[in-house]
Amino acid sequence: MALLTIYALGAVLSAVFAFVCFHLAIFLVDYRRRRNMLVQFPHTKPHFIFGHLLEYPGPNDEGLAFQREMTEQFPVASLVWMMHIPMLVVSHPKTVSVILKSSEPKGPRTYNLIRPWVGDGLLTSKGDKWYRNRRLLTPAFHFEILKSYIELKNRCADILVGKFVQAAESSTSFPIFSNVIKFTLDVILKCAMSYETNCQLPGNNHPYVNAVGVLSDIMVKRFFQPWFHNEFLFSLTPSGRKFFKQCDFVHQVAENIIRERKDELERQQTNTSDGKQRKCLDFLDILLTAKDEKGDGLTMREIRDEVDTFLFEGHDTTSSAISWALYSIAEHPEIQQRAQDELDVVLDQAGHIDVMWDDLNKLPYLTMVIKEAMRLHSPVPFIQRILTSDTEIDGKIAPAGTAVNCVIYNIHHNPVTWEDSMKFDPDRFLPENADSRSPYAFVPFSAGPRNCIGQNFAMHEIKIALARILHKVNLRLDPNHKVEKMESLIMRAKNDIQVLVTKRS
Ligand code: HEM
Repeated sequence: MALLTIYALGAVLSAVFAFVCFHLAIFLVDYRRRRNMLVQFPHTKPHFIFGHLLEYPGPNDEGLAFQREMTEQFPVASLVWMMHIPMLVVSHPKTVSVILKSSEPKGPRTYNLIRPWVGDGLLTSKGDKWYRNRRLLTPAFHFEILKSYIELKNRCADILVGKFVQAAESSTSFPIFSNVIKFTLDVILKCAMSYETNCQLPGNNHPYVNAVGVLSDIMVKRFFQPWFHNEFLFSLTPSGRKFFKQCDFVHQVAENIIRERKDELERQQTNTSDGKQRKCLDFLDILLTAKDEKGDGLTMREIRDEVDTFLFEGHDTTSSAISWALYSIAEHPEIQQRAQDELDVVLDQAGHIDVMWDDLNKLPYLTMVIKEAMRLHSPVPFIQRILTSDTEIDGKIAPAGTAVNCVIYNIHHNPVTWEDSMKFDPDRFLPENADSRSPYAFVPFSAGPRNCIGQNFAMHEIKIALARILHKVNLRLDPNHKVEKMESLIMRAKNDIQVLVTKRS
């Protein structure tokens, strides 16, 4: 009997062993095949354990200088290894266009880091779900809807401009990022959800802004620690616990906003005279009322995911674009003056201080300044796709399953397209200079089917903020403050950007 048990156990163990060996062999053969295909792409010699991980100086100014050097060395496409994980980096319009024109899904390894926060909203979803929701949400960014936000954006800008004027009167150095991020949060909460938080008011340290800052910082650290990409392991660390606690908090904020609005809509349906009348449809109205051709709407969870996505995408990115544009403007008095001359003509002729809908197209120089700032600083520094089939990139075949990084910062500093790329020169966007350039050389909002749905919303907001500030004050960089970049999901400044402000006569 005992002998029989031993034989049975031996047979089971042999079967398990054979099964493991079989799958290991398949894995190794496939790994070798993919590796042989990928090494055709240009690369430097990787470390046998860490790959290229240790060569990267970190998500700071040195890291960005390293990225520029790598782009100079490999201006079209290159292969990097994050430990044993291969990634392709595309930096040239001809390789970037292959990826962005496709509908390849986002790389799970990177976007799973953000998923606990923004769920499966437009930014992270794929396939039929993404396609359906993109169609349902596109009307939310129709020009008629965007037009109705101009007044709200100006009212939010009143508070921001007031802070600049106050800094001028008290001759104090003014931190740009921490003030602008409250402005952009104020704008998105009002335009997207008609939600009033007074988050711009002095001393009102809005916990949502703090939570978003903490989430973003933890995420960038985690990105460079592949051993913590496993959610379980990460959740055991102090950073992981903090991250999930803040995620719960931002979800709670979103759920409260949705619940209040759902109740408001239901009250209005039962009693048309009840509820506050809002001037315009906001994004949340569209999320709550959108229906596909089968008459199905979004589920509560889908609405929460889209709310979280809009709150994140709608304010952090725009605050980076505005802050870095102000930095470059403060650094270049002659460019500041040219932008102000243009503004004076438009606003003085119009006879008002608000930037109205019709004014937005009358500011070509300011638009060039904004574009050049978005090129130089790249508010969203990189995005990632995963190949679902073998794909030809620059004459070589990249195997299915490969992660491809479109590093927007590298694309915007590729010496093949951008001469003297660290120079701030808005004239690069004069029609005679821009028209012959590939549309994939400048992609701050990405491009193709998964481009930024909020790009017009963002451009209006950036123009209004810059125009209103520059019309009132002059800026120059505080010589006692060192500005350092911090590359995260968004391009941030390590210790903010400090400027000295004077009132314009
Ligand atoms: C200067 C400001 C902004 C920049 C630089 C920016 C940049 C980008 C980029 C690069 C992507 C592609 C992301 C990827 O492929 O992973 C994207 C997607 C997206 N952006 Fe923006 N964005 C900005 C403002 C906004 C605003 C204001 C909103 C909403 C109100 C918004 C909503 C979205 C959404 C929902 C997506 C996902 C679109 C999809 O995949 O269908 N963005 N954005």
